[in-house]
Amino acid sequence: MKIKKAIIPAAGYGTRSLPITKVIPKEMFPINGKPAIDYIVREAITSGITEILIVVSRNKNMIIDYFDRSLELENFLKQNNKQHLLNKLSIPNIHIQFVRQPIARGLGDAIRLGKPFVNDEPFAVLLPDDIFIEKESSLQKLIHVYHKVNSNVIGVKKVEDDLLKNYGVIDGKQVSHQLHEITNLIEKPQVSPPSNLAVAGRYVLHPDIFTYLQRVKPGSGGELQLTDALKDMLKDKKCYGQELVGDRYDIGSEKEYFELLKRLHYEQL
Ligand code: G1P
Repeated sequence: MKIKKAIIPAAGYGTRSLPITKVIPKEMFPINGKPAIDYIVREAITSGITEILIVVSRNKNMIIDYFDRSLELENFLKQNNKQHLLNKLSIPNIHIQFVRQPIARGLGDAIRLGKPFVNDEPFAVLLPDDIFIEKESSLQKLIHVYHKVNSNVIGVKKVEDDLLKNYGVIDGKQVSHQLHEITNLIEKPQVSPPSNLAVAGRYVLHPDIFTYLQRVKPGSGGELQLTDALKDMLKDKKCYGQELVGDRYDIGSEKEYFELLKRLHYEQL
């Protein structure tokens, strides 16, 4: 079945980037004049996604406004002969809808809110913190692998030992070049991570995941974790980790955000 739906969870507080995230959602941080979430939505579209659900929270209305037309501004530009600026206002020509997560209870809870939207189809998840720069979109690669293995696929990336505690980390056996059959997953392992392969913010999942999300208990940070639901699912279903080759920038890290800006600035010249 063609993967046409994607969930983008964008409801978190962005605590790593406070105080600016008190008023500006991290997903709206500018990258070459566009908000970060614009890159994520475009990655989804390039990968063949036609319907997107963005999970937001109370202080994220800016995201909803960004993906809406501003007729007032369009009229202003037309009346003032600034037609050339109108293309800058173009919004993606696909179906985007929003749902609010009332309480910040974690990524697992945010994805759970997407159940009625997904409606029993395989679907993608893109975490908007992780921006990938590569020729083939990361999600496209995962969708390709999903169709080959006919099972859940998670994007993973090798990470330095001392940083593994910040991620979901997989254990598994390598089945082909850059593809691992996952045997265990641990969210933010504080000691003895099972490998150096960290979950990298892109997933293609079977809708059965909702059964496991329904019964997941609070895990790392007291939150309902998608990683824990995936681990529970391993008892019944296969899950693969596909290594992603592009450079990944975590925009919740000030250092990586600036590295991304610097890289795109120089690549434009
Ligand atoms: C989330 C996931 C984690 C994953 C990470 C990638 O964590 O829970 O498994 O490795 O995204 O960015 P967060 O960064 O939201 O704490």
